[in-house]
Amino acid sequence: MKSSVLESINLTDSQFRDVATLVQAACGIHLHDGKKELVKGRLSKRLRHLGFHSFQEYIGYLRKDSSGAEITAMLDAISTNQTSFFREAEHFAYLADKVLPGVVSRNAGSKRLRIWSAGCSSGEEPYSIAITMCESIANLSAWDARILATDISTRVLAHAAQGVYDAERVQSVVPKLRNRHFNSTGAHSERRYEAKSNLKSMIQFARLNLMERWPMKGPFDTIFCRNVMIYFDRPTRERLVGRYYDLLAPGGTFFVGHSESLTGLKHQFRYVQPTVYEKP
Ligand SMILES: C[S@@+](CC[C@H](N)C(=O)[O-])C[C@H]1O[C@@H](n2cnc3c(N)ncnc32)[C@H](O)[C@@H]1O
Repeated sequence: MKSSVLESINLTDSQFRDVATLVQAACGIHLHDGKKELVKGRLSKRLRHLGFHSFQEYIGYLRKDSSGAEITAMLDAISTNQTSFFREAEHFAYLADKVLPGVVSRNAGSKRLRIWSAGCSSGEEPYSIAITMCESIANLSAWDARILATDISTRVLAHAAQGVYDAERVQSVVPKLRNRHFNSTGAHSERRYEAKSNLKSMIQFARLNLMERWPMKGPFDTIFCRNVMIYFDRPTRERLVGRYYDLLAPGGTFFVGHSESLTGLKHQFRYVQPTVYEKP
C-alpha cells in the first residue's frame, strides 16, 4: 500500500468550520479550533472509505443527506467513547448506599425502579449499574427494575448490546463480581468476558440523540449523564439539565462526570456533593 493512501486529506479552516457547524446542529457537540487535527485525522478515514478526495465533496454529501445516515456515521467517527467499568467508583458506592435504599423504600408499593444511562458508550456504565443493583437490592427479581441505556453512536451501542469485553477492560471489576456476573470464554491470552443474561435482560439499549425529542415518559429514579455534556456549549447543557430534571421522580438523583458541575447553569437541582444532584 502506498504511504500517500494513508495520509490525511487536507482540511481548510473554513471547511473545518462547516463540519463543526454541522456537528453542533446534529448533536450539540462543540468542536473548537483545537479539534481540527483530530477531526481531520478521524474523518479522513471516512472520506477514503466513501471514495471522496476532498472535504468539499464530503461536506456537500453531508448537506444532502436527508436520511441522517451519514451524519450518524460521521458522529461515530469523531465522538470520544472513552469509558470503563465502575468509572468514578464513588458514584456506584453512593448508588448502593444512598440511592437504591431510598428508592426501595419510596417505591415499595409499585416495586418499579428506572435508571437511565444517557451517553452509555459501549455499555460499561449500564452494566456497572446493573451489577450494583443485583448486589444491593435483596429480592431484586420481585422488582420491575430496568435500565435504559442510550447513545448517539450505533457502533458503541452494538458493542454494548453484545456485552462482550476483553480481559483488560473487565479488570476494573473486582474478581468476586466478575465471576458472579460474567461468563468467560477463550483460552488465557484471548480470554473474553460476556455479561450474564440476567444483567443483559435488565438493560434496554437504544439509539437516542440527546438533542432530539425523547420518546420516554419516565419518571426515572436516577439519571447518569457522565462525561457527555462536557462537549456541549453552555446553553445546550442548561437545556439538557432542565430536561433531565423534568424526567426525574421527586427524590431522584442525577450524576454528572468527575470534571463536570452544574455551577453557572440555571437549574432546580439540590446540590448533594460534587457531581451528585437531587430533585427535591
Ligand atoms: C466519553 S463517553 C462517556 C461514557 C460514559 N457515560 C462514561 O462516563 O464512562 C461520551 C458518550 O456520549 C455520547 N454522545 C455524545 N453526544 C451525544 C448526543 N448528542 N446524544 C447522545 N449521546 C451522545 C458519545 O457517543 C459517547 O459514547
